[in-house]
Amino acid sequence: MAKSLKMFVRESAIKKEVATWSLKDCEEYLQKHKNDNLKKNSLLNKKISIVSKFSSAVNAAKNISGKSRQNALRDIPFEFLVKNAPKEAQDPKNSKKLKSYQKNTGVYLWSLGYDLRKFIGAGCSAVIWERKDGKVMRVACNNKYLGFIETNDAVSEVKDSKTIEDIIRDKERNSKHLFVAKHIETDHDKSGKAVFETELASHGDLQKFKNENYKYDIQSILQMASDSLKGLKVLHDKGYSHNDIKPDNILVTDKTKKDKSSRINLKIADFGAMTRIDNTYKIFTNKKFRAPDFWKLNKEAVEKRDVYSLGCIFIGLLMKDENFSQNYQRFSKELINIGAENFSSKYLEHFTPDEKIIPFLNLIMLMVKPDYKSRVDVDQALTKLKGIKGLASQSKQR
Ligand SMILES: Nc1ncnc2c1ncn2[C@@H]1O[C@H](COP(=O)(O)OP(=O)(O)O)[C@@H](O)[C@H]1O
Ligand SMILES: [Mg+2]
Repeated sequence: MAKSLKMFVRESAIKKEVATWSLKDCEEYLQKHKNDNLKKNSLLNKKISIVSKFSSAVNAAKNISGKSRQNALRDIPFEFLVKNAPKEAQDPKNSKKLKSYQKNTGVYLWSLGYDLRKFIGAGCSAVIWERKDGKVMRVACNNKYLGFIETNDAVSEVKDSKTIEDIIRDKERNSKHLFVAKHIETDHDKSGKAVFETELASHGDLQKFKNENYKYDIQSILQMASDSLKGLKVLHDKGYSHNDIKPDNILVTDKTKKDKSSRINLKIADFGAMTRIDNTYKIFTNKKFRAPDFWKLNKEAVEKRDVYSLGCIFIGLLMKDENFSQNYQRFSKELINIGAENFSSKYLEHFTPDEKIIPFLNLIMLMVKPDYKSRVDVDQALTKLKGIKGLASQSKQR
C-alpha cells in the first residue's frame, strides 16, 4: 500500500473512533497529551489534532447559530454531534413514537443552525420541533413503510408542500383552514430529510386539545365541524383528497383578533398522503378513521373517503371519552342503526339539551354511510351544517 493511502486509511479509522467520544473524553485525552513532544507526521499527532478539531468545533458551535454554526460543523461526523449536541436538541427519552429513521432530527436541525426549545411530536413520517423564537420546524424523513404500502418520502413531501402553497396562493382565505409548512431545505445525500418551517399551533392537535382543554358545548363543536369541512372543501375544490384525516392531523390554533366567531380555529395539516382525486393509486388511509370502501379508487369514492373520516371525528367530538384515537367505526354503525334520538340519549347525556344536536347527528349519519354512493360530499355537508348552525338554539330562546 502506498504510504499516503495507508495514512488515509489510518486517519479514517481514527475519525471513526473519535466520532463515538464525548466532549469530556476529548478534553481528558487532550489534557493527557498536553506535554507530549511528538513528531509532526506521527499518528498520535494526527489523533490529537482530530480530537481537538472535533471538540473545538462543537464547543464553538454552542455559542453561535445560523449559517456560522452550519459551517463550523460541516466536517464533523454526525455521530459525534449526536453524542455532544445540547440537551434540548436530543431525542426525548419518553417518546415511544420515534422510529429509527426519525431519530436525531433535533440534532440535525441544531447542526443546520437552528436553536431549539423543545420536541413537540411525531407522526409516521415527520418529527416536529419548536424553535426558541417560537416558530416550528417539521422534518420529514425517508424510509417510511406503513404495512405493505410505501408512503410518500421526503422528496414527495416537498412536492406536496409546493402544491399546498399554490392552493393557498390562489386565494388568501384558502389558508384559513389549511396548515401550511414552508419548505426550507432537503438533505438528499446524507439523511434524506426535508426541513419545513411553520407556525406553532398553540393548542396542538385535536386529540391533545380534546384531552386537555375541552368543553362539551354544541355551538363550539359545530364551529369546529365547520372549520374542518371548509379546510377539506378547499382541497377537494382543487382536485385533491387528503386520505389521512384523523385527530392528530387537525391542528388547533388561536383565532385572529378580528375573528369573533369563536376562540379557536381548526386547520387541516399533514399532506403526506394526499393525492389527486381523479388519479388516485393509494388505498391507504389510517385504519381507525378510514371508510369501509377505502379501497375503491373511482373519483366519487376517493372524494368521499375524507368525508367519512371527518364524520367519525365529529362523533368523537361529541362523545365523552378521553381516547380520541379509538375506533369510531362501531359508533358510526350504531348511530345508523339506532338513529339520532336514541344515540343522543344513550351517549350524549353530558350535553345540555339543544335543538341542534339531533340535526347534527343526522348530518353525521349521512357522512358515515358505509356505501359512498349514499354518503354526502363535502359541499352537501357544509350546506347542511350551515342550516344547523343557523337554527335558534333552545338555550338562547329560554
Ligand atoms: N405546527 C404545529 N404546532 C403544534 N403541533 C404540531 C405542529 N405540527 C405538527 N404538530 C404535532 O406533531 C404531530 C406530527 O405532525 P405531522 O405533520 O402530522 O407529521 P406526520 O406526517 O409524521 O404525521 C401532529 O400530530 C401534531 O401533534
Ligand atoms: Mg400526522
